[in-house]
Amino acid sequence: MPLFFGGWLNWLSGPQSTFEVAGPVAKAQLNVFYVTLWVTGIIFVLVAGVLTYATLKYKARNTADEHAAPPPQGHGNPLIELGLIAVSVLALVFIAVPTLKAIWYDYEVPAAEKETALEVNAIGYQWWFKFEYPAEQIAGAGTLVTGNELVIPAGRAVRLNLRSVDVIHSFWVPKLAGKVDMIPNRGNHMWLKADEPGYFWGQCAEYCGEDHAVMRFRVIALSEPDYAAWLVHQKAPGRVVPADAPSSAPAAAYDYKNPGRNAPGYSSAFDADPLGAWVKLQSPEAGEVPASIAHGRQLFQQKNCIGCHTVRGQEGVGVSGPDLTHIGSRTTIAGGVLENSKENLHRWLTDPNGVKPGNKMWTTGYNDSASGKEIFRINDDEARALVAYLHSLK
Ligand code: CUA
Repeated sequence: MPLFFGGWLNWLSGPQSTFEVAGPVAKAQLNVFYVTLWVTGIIFVLVAGVLTYATLKYKARNTADEHAAPPPQGHGNPLIELGLIAVSVLALVFIAVPTLKAIWYDYEVPAAEKETALEVNAIGYQWWFKFEYPAEQIAGAGTLVTGNELVIPAGRAVRLNLRSVDVIHSFWVPKLAGKVDMIPNRGNHMWLKADEPGYFWGQCAEYCGEDHAVMRFRVIALSEPDYAAWLVHQKAPGRVVPADAPSSAPAAAYDYKNPGRNAPGYSSAFDADPLGAWVKLQSPEAGEVPASIAHGRQLFQQKNCIGCHTVRGQEGVGVSGPDLTHIGSRTTIAGGVLENSKENLHRWLTDPNGVKPGNKMWTTGYNDSASGKEIFRINDDEARALVAYLHSLK
C-alpha cells in the first residue's frame, strides 16, 4: 500500500525498522499494519472531530449559560445506535479479512515455492542462535551447523523450524519476518524470503533472561551462485595454518582497550556496508602470524574451549556453545552483539561477563561450577593468541 512513508518519517528507518521491508512476509505484515492504521486513524479523526465540535458549540459561555436548565433529555436514537454498531462491525471485518489472509500466508511457504524452499532449524539458546541445515550433510560430521549468522539464498523461500533448548525465545528479523516464539518441547515454524541479496538484523523478541536485549543474530542473503559457494566453504573443516608458514605481512596491531564505537574518531566499514564487510571476511586476512595462531589453537584446548565449541576437523567437539569452525568469517560475535573485530574479540575473551552478564562461557566455562572459582580466565597475551587463531578460522 503506497501510504505515508516519506522523507519526513525517516526516523522510522534503521536496521531493525519494520517500515523498510525486504521480503514478502514482512510486506504482508506491514500491509496489515497500514490497513489497521488507516481504519483506526479515520475513526480517531471522526470521533475527535465530533467531540471537538460538540465541546466548542455547546460549552457554557457565561454565568447565565452555566445556570440554564439542561436541554430536553432523550434516550438515544435507535437508528444512530444501530448505524454505529453496523459501522463498527464493518470496520472490524475490513481489518479482519486482510489480517486473516496475512496470518495464513505467513504461516506456511506458498505451495508453488515448497519444492525449492530451503529448510533450516533455528534453535534458541540463552543467549544465542544455532542454525542447522538438515539438507546439508557432511561426511563423518553430520548436519551443517552455524551460529548467530543465518546465510540464505536471496529470492528463495526459507522454512524455519523454530526450537529452544532452554526458555522461550522469539525469532524476529524485522525487515524479513517475525515474530514467532521458540518454545521448549513445541515445534513452531515460520518462513521468510529476502527479495534481494542483503544483510539483515535479527533479534530475540521474547524476554528470556538477563541478556535478552543482547540476544541477536544476522541474516545474510546471497545470490544463488554466492550461496552455493558459501555452502561448499562452510562444509569444509576448520582452516589450518601450519605453524611454520611464513607470515604474510606485518601483524596488524590493535588496541583492545579502545574497542570501537565509543572511541573518538571511530568509523567502521562494517556500519557503512555490512554485506561488503561480510564478503571481505570470507578470505584470510593479511598480517596472520602462524606461530601465534598455533599457540592460540593450543590455548583453545588448554582453556577448555573445546568442551563447549566445535571446530570441525580440529580439537573442538563441544556442542553447548556456538560452532566455531568458520568463526573468522562471521561479522559478529557474542550472539550478534559485537562486531567481530580483533579488539572486540579480545574484549569478549577476557571479559565475557562485562559484555553479556551471566553468559555460560563465563558462568560455566571460566569458573569451576562447584567452587565458583575462576579457573580458565584468559590473560591479555593468551587473548591475543586466541584472537589470531579464531580469526584464522575462515
Ligand atoms: Cu532469547 Cu529473548
